[in-house]
Amino acid sequence: MGTLTSESAHSPALADDFLPGPVLLLGAPGVGKGTQAQSLMADYGIPQISTGDILRSNIAQGTELGKAAKGLMDHGQLVPDQMVNDMVGARLEQPDVERGYILDGYPRTLGQAEWLDSHLATESKAGKPQSALPLVAVNIRVDEQTLLRRITGRRICAKCKHIYNIYSKPPKQEGLCDFDGSPLQHRSDDTEAAFSERMKAYNSLTAPVIEHYSKQGRFREVDGDRPVAEVTSSIESSLRQLRQAGA
Ligand code: AP5
Repeated sequence: MGTLTSESAHSPALADDFLPGPVLLLGAPGVGKGTQAQSLMADYGIPQISTGDILRSNIAQGTELGKAAKGLMDHGQLVPDQMVNDMVGARLEQPDVERGYILDGYPRTLGQAEWLDSHLATESKAGKPQSALPLVAVNIRVDEQTLLRRITGRRICAKCKHIYNIYSKPPKQEGLCDFDGSPLQHRSDDTEAAFSERMKAYNSLTAPVIEHYSKQGRFREVDGDRPVAEVTSSIESSLRQLRQAGA
């Protein structure tokens, strides 16, 4: 989910034919993957695929998947690989991914990365347009102390999912979305205790995924501790460089 954001209005990306293809946004909890994915969606007209958002939507709807995931998510633990791989596989069947898509929060283990690589290789062999370009990955870096403040200050619109922060990006009217007036929510895993578990899971299980994509070469890192629009510009420059280099 995402909205057109004012931060993204700076970008000329939609003014030309740049084809983003499949993009991975990597980084620890709170580095700004969701915020940046919303800007890239607006700039490139491609969808964000956030496994966290899909899981939260299942929880809200009370599905079996949501019931299985809720306890794990509230405690900052990862949901089993097969559940998220199946979710992502189903999402990649939708026609809106043909010009590209932004994977946010996936893959998060080496097992997920290997499943994704193999899934995309099969799609590419089958000539699917969304796999005409290889996957490129951008890792966003921010130090851990800053992340805790971002996580505890985050609020999200219940309806359009626009992301706010009570410290760095408050809504115009406290507790209400600027775009549709809906109430803002605090995620149940955005506590200091759950953040600590999420960081443990990140350091032990997700950090190796960064190395995996870094070794493949189609990879860049950006400093995420700058204003949102500057981070977006760095990510977009990185994507252009990667595609110009033949990735
Ligand atoms: P998920 O929803 O993916 O959470 P996450 O990876 O922990 O990332 P976050 O959504 O917390 O942060 P973000 O990087 O998107 O930051 P944001 O842009 O919101 O996953 C939640 C749970 O679901 C997991 O713990 C797990 O249980 C399960 N799950 C999900 N995917 C899974 C998978 N693949 N496998 C297994 N389990 C899975 O920004 C954060 C805050 O910072 C906001 O308030 C924002 O306004 C602010 N901010 C952003 N950028 C800036 C900036 N440049 N300057 C100042 N403030 C900023």
